[in-house]
Amino acid sequence: MCGIVGYVGKQPAAPFILEGLKRLEYRGYDSTGVAILADGAFRVAKKIGRVANLEKEIGRQPLAGTYGIGHTRWATHGGVTDANAHPHVSSDGKIALIHNGVIENYAALKQVLLGQGFTFKSETDTEVLCNLIAYHYDRLSVAGDENRLLAAVRQALRHAEGTYGIVVMSVDFPGEMVASRKGSPLILGLGEGENIVASDVSAIVARTQSVVYLKDGEIVHLTEKNFRITTLDQVAVAPTVDKVTWKITDAELGDYTHFMEKEIFEQPVALENAMRGRFSEDGSTAQFGGLNITPHEFRGIERFMFCACGTALHACMVTEHMIERFARMPVECDYASEFRYRNTPLYRNTLFFVMSQSGETIDTLAALREAKRKGYQVLAINNVVGSTIAREADGGIYQHVGPEIGVASTKAFTSQLLIGAMLALYIGRMRDLSFGAGVRYVAALKSAPDLVRQTLLQAPAIRAIARKYAHYTDMLFLGRLSLFPIALEGALKLKEISYIHAEGYPAAEMKHGPIALISEKCPSVFLVPQGEIVNKIVSSMQEIKARKGPVIAIITEGVELPAGLADDTIVVPDCHEAVLPIVMSVPVQLLSYYIAVARGCDVDKPRNLAKSVTVE
Ligand code: AGP
Repeated sequence: MCGIVGYVGKQPAAPFILEGLKRLEYRGYDSTGVAILADGAFRVAKKIGRVANLEKEIGRQPLAGTYGIGHTRWATHGGVTDANAHPHVSSDGKIALIHNGVIENYAALKQVLLGQGFTFKSETDTEVLCNLIAYHYDRLSVAGDENRLLAAVRQALRHAEGTYGIVVMSVDFPGEMVASRKGSPLILGLGEGENIVASDVSAIVARTQSVVYLKDGEIVHLTEKNFRITTLDQVAVAPTVDKVTWKITDAELGDYTHFMEKEIFEQPVALENAMRGRFSEDGSTAQFGGLNITPHEFRGIERFMFCACGTALHACMVTEHMIERFARMPVECDYASEFRYRNTPLYRNTLFFVMSQSGETIDTLAALREAKRKGYQVLAINNVVGSTIAREADGGIYQHVGPEIGVASTKAFTSQLLIGAMLALYIGRMRDLSFGAGVRYVAALKSAPDLVRQTLLQAPAIRAIARKYAHYTDMLFLGRLSLFPIALEGALKLKEISYIHAEGYPAAEMKHGPIALISEKCPSVFLVPQGEIVNKIVSSMQEIKARKGPVIAIITEGVELPAGLADDTIVVPDCHEAVLPIVMSVPVQLLSYYIAVARGCDVDKPRNLAKSVTVE
C-alpha cells in the first residue's frame, strides 16, 4: 500500500512524478503529495484525494525543479488529511521523506525527538522517521561530506522497527537521493542521465526498462548518473540489472472505461499467455520451468499446503479441489495471515505453496518466511516478475498475465485457477492419472481461452441482469465443490466494488444459518454445473424460492431447471471439470462489475482498499 516515486535527472521532476503516481494510484488513493528540491529549499504540495486533485493544484502554481519525490497514500497512522499526506519535511526543514510501510515504535521515537526539540505537524509514523533522520543528519554535520545523508538514513533505520520503503532527500545535496526498504517493495529504474526509484515498475517503464529490484535491508545512494547499493551494515552489493518485458501501453485503459472491465475482457489472452509452452510434447501433462524441484523429488512429496490472502486464497481452494480430485493427494489451504501466527503442525514431505498476484502481500510473504524458517521448501505462484515473494521463494510459476491494475483481481485470479489446474495435472500424471485422461485434460485446458471468449459474449445480457439487482443491499453466492470458492470469490468481488453485503457459501450449508437472511430482499446467485449434484443444488434453489428469495442461476449448457425456479438465468458453455471454475468466474465477475457500475461506484479504486496489502 502507498505508492512512492523519486526522480533525479535533467527533466522536470513534478510532471514525471505525477504521471508515475497515477500509475501507482491503485496502491492507495487517500492523499497525494510531491516535494521538489530547487534553489536550496523543498517546495511541497499535498492534498487529500486522487492524484488528479493535486495535479489541478500544481497546475495553478507549477513546481519547477529536476529532483523530487512523490507519494500516494493508503492511510495507516493518522486520518486522511492534507497534513498527514506525504512527503513529510523535518521540522528543521533539512530532510524530506516519502514512506510506504509502518514504523511500529514511532510513539517511543517521537517522545525522544520531542525532547530534542523536534516538532510535528502530522499524526504519522512517517514524520517521526523523517525527524529521526534529521536528528542523525544534524549530528553528522560534516561540511562537504557527500555521504552524510546516506549515513544519517542508515543510522536512523537502525532505530526504526517495522516496515518501510523510503526515499529521502536533503536540502544540502540537490541531485542526491537515498532509498531503502524492509518489507515494502522498492525498484530502481536506470535511465539515460536520470535515475528513478519507485514502488513498482509501472511508474518507471515510461522512461526505462532497466531495473534493479532492491532487497530488504539494502540502501541505495543515487544521483542522476550513478547509484551505489550497500546493506545497512555497509557491505557493498553488486546489483543485478533486469529488463522489464512489458510496455507502458499494457498498463493503459485503451477503449475501456475501467481497468477491471479491461482485465475481465483480457482473460482469453491472459490464459493463453499463462499456459504458453507449459504442456509436454506428448500433450498429456503440464511442465513448468521454474519449480527448481526435480520430478523425482516431487514424487517424494506426500502433501501440499497452500497459503494466500483474499482472491488468491480462493484460487488456492480451487487448486486444493483439483489436486485432491485429479492427483488424489491431500492438500491444506490457509489464510496466510492466520498461518503465520497459528504455529500449524506441518507433516514431513509437505511442499508449501504461496499464491500472490502482486508478490508483495505482507501476510503471504510472512507465511512464506515462516514455512522456510521451519525448513520447508516453498514455491510461489505469482504474477509480478521480480516481486519479493518471487525472489524469496525456492522456485515457482509465473502467471504471465501482465500488469493487473484494477484493485479487484480478475485476470490474475483465472490464471491462478489455470495454473492450479495444470499443477493438479502435473502431479496427477506422476501418479494415477492415465495418459488418455491427461490428453483429455490438456485439450480441455487449451480450450479454456475460447470458452471464456464465448462466455464474454454474454456481457450485454449480464449487464441487463445486473441493472435489475443493483439496488439490493444483501446477496448470497452459492456453489458446491470446486465452485464453492467461486461463490466466495463472487461475494468478495461484489462487496469490494459495489459495497453490497454479500456472502459465499457451499449451497447445502445455506440451510444451517444463512437461510435466515432469505426474503424477497436478498437475492441468491447459484452456480449450477452439469453433473451428479445438480439435483441437490436444485433442491437448495427450491428452498430459497419457497422463502421468496430472488434467484439468479448461472448454469452450464444442458442443465434444465424446473420452470420458474430462477428469476434470471445465465448460461455458460459446458466444459471439463478442470476448466469449470475458470468459465464460471466470468459471469460472476461481470455481474459484480456491472452492478457496481450501475450503482455509480468507483470500480477501480473502491473505498478503503489498495491493490497490494503491504502492511499487517
Ligand atoms: C482481490 O480482488 C482483492 N483485491 C484482494 O483480495 C487480493 O486478492 C489480496 O489482497 C491478495 O493479493 P495478492 O494476490 O497480490 O497477494
